[in-house]
Amino acid sequence: METEIIKIDPKKLKDNKNYYDGELEKAAVVINNGGLVAFPTETVYGLGADATNPFASKKIYLAKGRPSDNPLIIHIYDKNQLKEYAIDIPDIAYKIAEKFWPGPLTMILKKSAIIPKETSGGLDTVGIRMPSDEVARAFLKKVGIAVAAPSANISGRPSPTMSRHVIEDMDGKIDMIIDSDKAKIGLESTIVDLSTSVPSILRPGAISLEMLQKIDKNIYIDPAILKKPDSKLKPKAPGMKYRHYAPKAELIILKGDFKAIEAYLKKEVEKQHKSNKRIALILSKENNIKINVEDIKYIGSRSSYEEIANNLFSTLRELDNNNIDIIYSESFENTGIGMAIMNRLTKAAGYNIIEL
Ligand code: TXA
Ligand code: MG
Repeated sequence: METEIIKIDPKKLKDNKNYYDGELEKAAVVINNGGLVAFPTETVYGLGADATNPFASKKIYLAKGRPSDNPLIIHIYDKNQLKEYAIDIPDIAYKIAEKFWPGPLTMILKKSAIIPKETSGGLDTVGIRMPSDEVARAFLKKVGIAVAAPSANISGRPSPTMSRHVIEDMDGKIDMIIDSDKAKIGLESTIVDLSTSVPSILRPGAISLEMLQKIDKNIYIDPAILKKPDSKLKPKAPGMKYRHYAPKAELIILKGDFKAIEAYLKKEVEKQHKSNKRIALILSKENNIKINVEDIKYIGSRSSYEEIANNLFSTLRELDNNNIDIIYSESFENTGIGMAIMNRLTKAAGYNIIEL
């Protein structure tokens, strides 16, 4: 299949709301005809289809190679659409929407009959999000109906934060890609489950536990996402159980004082080089190190976890393109957006953490 790539500059769209009407109309027609369009959001790029069309949803699973029990999140442009797609909506949902929408937060609610089981992965609940990205909003408005969209990567690969990542994974497999700027946040939305009596966070994101607890102090983190899941401890978000966000290289997280990490690396790198392994490091800017390795990525400052979050997935992809065998990464604090960073990092590492 020929994938059409259309370029949209968010600055031009901001200056003139009608500037891209032709392009957006074309993208909306693709969705309304049951096709697939990848589009930017503030979290990561999404792979969109008509959320009410079971055949369109099925195409998403096929293009990504995604297991069919892993439900899709649906995207809206207006808070009033909530009532069309969800039922039994608790008051807290409106409070959360008021505070955090549009933005990087997904609510799990009981689904209405309009959402087919192909979209909800067979569940009777549905994840709903209203993104803040201007291009996403203009696109969703043109489509009119909710757009189901997982991250636009091949299943298991790091989520795409730039259009070129989407092109890497999806060119030739989908109808259209909207090529826009780098995602502002760079990690997927926080998922909060409001379908049970006490709300819980199923996936940490830029809207942190601390921020949500200001609305309801009882909100807690699904215990299965804080450590390695096993048969007794299963994450409630089906997608969180898969090894995910995974680079091709082996990723190892080093936890502890940087002096100890440095000493460990000096020994370990020498050993791995003897067996011809290509080594890379992921470090914060503060932890400058002199060492002979194939690649070092300084992903941001420890004083700006937003910057680290923003660079994490693209860094993992770059290291893949550099044919690295082993990546050692520094570890980060588990609070605020740090919880989302550590969640993605430990999953990408397959829970391979060395305490030093
Ligand atoms: O930021 C985001 O949320 C991005 C952008 C494109 O909006 N989307 C995204 O979708 O990350 P995806 O499909 O890559 O991840 C959705 C996660 C999966 O882990 C899935 O299992 C979970 O949300 N999920 C979706 N619907 C659910 C439901 N009804 N109950 C529990 N978990 C659900
Ligand atoms: Mg994903």
